[in-house]
Amino acid sequence: CIMLQYETFTDPSAAKLYIKEQGAPIVVKADGLAAGKGVIVAMTLNEAYDAVDTMLVDGAFGSAGCRVIVEEFLEGEEASFFALVDGETAIPLESAQDHKRVGDGDTGPNTGGMGAYSPAPVLTKELESVVMNSIILPTVKGMSEEGCKFVGVLYAGLMIEKKSGLPKLIEYNVRFGDPECQVLMVRLESDLAQVLLAACRGQLSGVSLNWSSGSAMVVVMASKGYPSSYEKGTVIENLDDAQLVAPSVQIFHAGTSLDEDGNYIAVGGRVLGITAKGKNLEEARDRAYRAVEVIKWPGGFYRKDIGWRAFPVKQFS
Ligand code: GLY
Repeated sequence: CIMLQYETFTDPSAAKLYIKEQGAPIVVKADGLAAGKGVIVAMTLNEAYDAVDTMLVDGAFGSAGCRVIVEEFLEGEEASFFALVDGETAIPLESAQDHKRVGDGDTGPNTGGMGAYSPAPVLTKELESVVMNSIILPTVKGMSEEGCKFVGVLYAGLMIEKKSGLPKLIEYNVRFGDPECQVLMVRLESDLAQVLLAACRGQLSGVSLNWSSGSAMVVVMASKGYPSSYEKGTVIENLDDAQLVAPSVQIFHAGTSLDEDGNYIAVGGRVLGITAKGKNLEEARDRAYRAVEVIKWPGGFYRKDIGWRAFPVKQFS
């Protein structure tokens, strides 16, 4: 089944009864904004009961946690799916996948994304049409029928479930993803402004997008310490040389500024997105990492294994 199984609760006993019926592992979520801390992936029943108590009895998340969602645990590969929507019609963008964990081998705390690549082999053309027909288009139609037409970028966070191979929707965002957007933008050959204008005017039907063949990869360089606290103001050198590694290298600035002497300095957590295209993912990766290595920034770090899930010989599992 493509639908994620879930129930919502305000009564702790009812939530626990449902958890007991479903069994662990199971996911308990606060139904409001909780600064990224409101999702507990409980591997045992007791962890799940504790999460319910923390949210519904102790009120750890305030009003954000006075209703909880108890959701099926999914095992598989996460992928990002973007569609451009004009209220009635939706067109898919190319596939992309990011790496959310801070450490190599997808370990350590979650971040906003430490790198990404496009296309994402896990999102095959067959899966793309499953996602469009069973997730994106019903959402767009439903919103239109409810008198609340959606126009813009719909970003479906998916889990491609290991067991069934089917995509399940974990969340929607109404924006591009970062850093997935970087790899999509360097591959997009159509005029983005024209396409966005067509979406605003409700004229997406019949529009098709042109993408460069081959692949793109972005490696995020972040301030040491991110996603916890980090130092600001560290100097970054050699950006111009890094840009010259290959014509397709493009460096996106996310958290830089200039100091009084005209040096680039880091002023954020995720600071640079070093992006490159290639005829395949290997070439894109080699170019992106060669550019990364030219950059002199002792205050920064990056993951060394972006794209590992997409390569035939897997380094981590
Ligand atoms: N890369 C994940 C996000 O933009 O939410």
